[in-house]
Amino acid sequence: MKIFSTMTSLLLFPVLLFSCHQQITTDNPTSSIDSLKNIIEQLKPGLGEFMLQFELHHDRLAKAIREKNYERANYETDELKETAKKIVQLHITNEKLQQPFSFFYDKYLKAAFENLSIAAENKDESALNTNFLALTNNCNSCHHENNMAFVKIEP
Ligand code: HEC
Repeated sequence: MKIFSTMTSLLLFPVLLFSCHQQITTDNPTSSIDSLKNIIEQLKPGLGEFMLQFELHHDRLAKAIREKNYERANYETDELKETAKKIVQLHITNEKLQQPFSFFYDKYLKAAFENLSIAAENKDESALNTNFLALTNNCNSCHHENNMAFVKIEP
């Protein structure tokens, strides 16, 4: 019996040593940075959440244009720009996006946002209407290109 327990301790010793060693390696700076990176990834809002912000400001922009509230139209355009900037800065993506968001930002949003800002500053109702329609079409083109054609944004 005594012999058996001595044998067991001798066998267990390397196992314990090995598991301690495992813990020590997780304390190294590289793996700590990796686990922090993981946490950051988990805390980032998903693309769908930013899209809901797009929808909100898109609809408020429509209302502002209808009511000829140019200051509000300018503000809502800025909010759309800010939302897009965050998606780019945080490198938000998901399995549906065929390219990085910044690619589609340049293709579909950048010019539309700039034209809307200029139109709002000039209180140009007809340019606001034209560019708002262009923006809505571009939202839908990007949905089409990224397997989301069933999310149809109405002007
Ligand atoms: C990069 C191309 C792209 C552009 C540009 C884009 N979308 Fe999206 N949109 C997506 C993708 C991809 C999804 C699916 C997100 C997901 O998987 O949760 C989506 C989803 C949505 C949804 C559904 C969100 C939900 O959870 O119900 C809405 C609403 C939406 N977009 C609105 C807009 C509006 C408004 C615009 C224009 C101002 C716009 N999107 C521009 C790619 C785009």
